[in-house]
Amino acid sequence: QLRGLLSGKKVVVTAGPTREFIDPVRFISNPSSGKMGFAMAEAARTMGGEVTVIHGPVHIPKPGGVDTIEIVSTDELFEQVKAHADADVIIMAAAVADFTPESPAEQKIKKNDDASSLKLSRTPDILSWLGHHKREGQTLIGFAMETENMVEYAQKKRESKKADWIAANSIADHNSGFGTDTNTVTLLGENVRQDFSGTKKDVARQLLDRIFNTG
Ligand code: C5P
Repeated sequence: QLRGLLSGKKVVVTAGPTREFIDPVRFISNPSSGKMGFAMAEAARTMGGEVTVIHGPVHIPKPGGVDTIEIVSTDELFEQVKAHADADVIIMAAAVADFTPESPAEQKIKKNDDASSLKLSRTPDILSWLGHHKREGQTLIGFAMETENMVEYAQKKRESKKADWIAANSIADHNSGFGTDTNTVTLLGENVRQDFSGTKKDVARQLLDRIFNTG
């Protein structure tokens, strides 16, 4: 039965976007709502997991019965994830900003300032770090959003980041992706490729069921 699948297991879920500040009032981010991550947390809780959600700025109700930790930047997310990296299951559903301003301005940049260029550097890849520091028996699940060649790119990501599973979203599908209540994902594992579709809550339950019941 689904209920006890994650009994006694420590589950960490990341959700929502991260923000990288350019100056005190401007940032780089993305439209992630946190819905898929929160749905994963809720599903893991329903299955008996002890769940901690580490999440960026979101505007939706927090799932009940789980610990929540708020972060803003990718660096903060990385610190919190490292502090919880001993979990049995880690689900990276956060839409992590890939770039951060190299030297954020301490004061608001004025319209007349020369702001014609913005130097960016890469943020740490948290899922990849987790994959390369994975402990025995830990299950690592990532998400991937693609606009083309979804399965191929996502499967490559799974391998290079050393994740056990990647749930790939196509944002070409208008019922999927940022902000929607529904989702269509392809779950990729070692020799596994399976599609799931429905509300994000349904998809979350189906994914965990597939991974922990038969996976
Ligand atoms: O490479 P891409 O961003 O498409 O990979 C998506 C997966 O990697 C997601 O699970 C996301 O949470 C994770 N990720 C990460 N750190 C980054 C970028 C993505 O953990 N800097």
